[in-house]
Amino acid sequence: MLHAMDRWKTIIEPFRIKSVEPIRLTSVEERQAALEAAGYNLFNLHSVDVLIDLLTDSGTGAMSAEQWAGIQRGDESYAGSPSWFRFLESVQNLFPFKHVIPAHQGRAAEKILFGVVAGPGKSVPSNTHFDTTRANVEFTGAEAVDLVIEEGRHPSVIHPFKGNMDTDALDAFIRERGRESIPLVMVTITNNSGGGQPVSLENLRAVRAVCDRYGLPLFLDACRFAENAWFIKQREPGYADVAIPDIVREMAALADGMTMSAKKDGIANIGGWLAMNDDVWAEAARNLEILTEGFPTYGGLAGRDLEAIAQGLREVVNEDYLHYRIRSTAYLGEALVESGIPCVQPIGGHAVYIDAAALLPHIPALEYPGQSLAVALYREGGIRGVEIGTVMFGLHPDGTETAASMELVRLAIPRRVYTQSHIDYVIEVVRWVAERAADLRGYRIVAQPPQLRHFTARFEPLA
Ligand code: F0G
Repeated sequence: MLHAMDRWKTIIEPFRIKSVEPIRLTSVEERQAALEAAGYNLFNLHSVDVLIDLLTDSGTGAMSAEQWAGIQRGDESYAGSPSWFRFLESVQNLFPFKHVIPAHQGRAAEKILFGVVAGPGKSVPSNTHFDTTRANVEFTGAEAVDLVIEEGRHPSVIHPFKGNMDTDALDAFIRERGRESIPLVMVTITNNSGGGQPVSLENLRAVRAVCDRYGLPLFLDACRFAENAWFIKQREPGYADVAIPDIVREMAALADGMTMSAKKDGIANIGGWLAMNDDVWAEAARNLEILTEGFPTYGGLAGRDLEAIAQGLREVVNEDYLHYRIRSTAYLGEALVESGIPCVQPIGGHAVYIDAAALLPHIPALEYPGQSLAVALYREGGIRGVEIGTVMFGLHPDGTETAASMELVRLAIPRRVYTQSHIDYVIEVVRWVAERAADLRGYRIVAQPPQLRHFTARFEPLA
């Protein structure tokens, strides 16, 4: 079904702006000085020195007038606040799980969940675990395993649901490890680490069938559930006329629980939750939550945050919003692809991933082509993306270094923040840098911590 706005080529933002935040134009010389001070690590920049900040879509969205009204309404009672009940109703309207356990962000929900269900000797399969999910599984001594379909592993291969789980591999994995060692199966919607790629309802049903065969629970990492639902409506046969909230409820009905970062499709600046149907696990989770997050009716959040999330969940399933959201990300990605710039395809929901290995074939993986490209985008245009490649994944616990499987630069789009002219500017800068890609040089690392080095490592350009 054609959306009303599909008649026109121009994507208009389905909102008008009544509060603005100035962004600061800087010169190439100022940015070069900022880069040197930051050790060429974009995480070390002061954000006031960034013009267009595409580091993440997490917690960086713009709230609506109604969300700000909710902030005023927030009730800060320690227990049983009306803000909690508004949050609960809004969550359960889309995800009717019996128990909802609020948390300050997604990884806090993951920490509680895996603290309850994982541990040494256990394995948790997923389509692709996000880094914090993997880290929280591994922190308990368990193993985190990625079983995305083959198409999902190749940047240029087109597939409508590239985030799907390989259900044959899942079945084989469960048989090999034994169902007793697997506490649950996880599916990330959309698959962030795989390029913001969606998972189909058909695939979720197939995963459910495998779980049922072995009596295993299925949990969703639902950070970008609304974007996933929009892709289902657009691409999955039979869903063109189904309302987005119904698609979300259909996804939820196939699962036994979920983790959520409300910093993504909650369109809030902070927040998250863990939800499930199992009473025994929920009780254990609430006990852990009281230890680290707070009383179970606020879970590390202020009452006003609960209000912002409750309203954000109502807005994120709006079809005019989702149409704009997904089209505007595709607009950036398609413009880059048309200019011959290699990107993960098809373009995902929340970000465009540039294939730096293909764009900078003269820079070997251990000289960090993704870092080189990310630095150049900042130096030339004040745009901050993030390297997702050997800097992020190349260093191993034993101190050895190997090339990551892909060298990507992610340009993540904050929700409702930048206009089409901002994005046109990004396109112009990326094209300019790509035309001069042969001039870019690699980097070497001059200082790094033993783990998660991408946040703090310092670099030097190679001569
Ligand atoms: N799951 C997925 C799929 C995510 O993308 C993230 C965060 C989390 C869990 C953790 O949530 O940040 O609230 O603790 N992703 C951000 C990003 C950080 O930039 O992609 P959190």
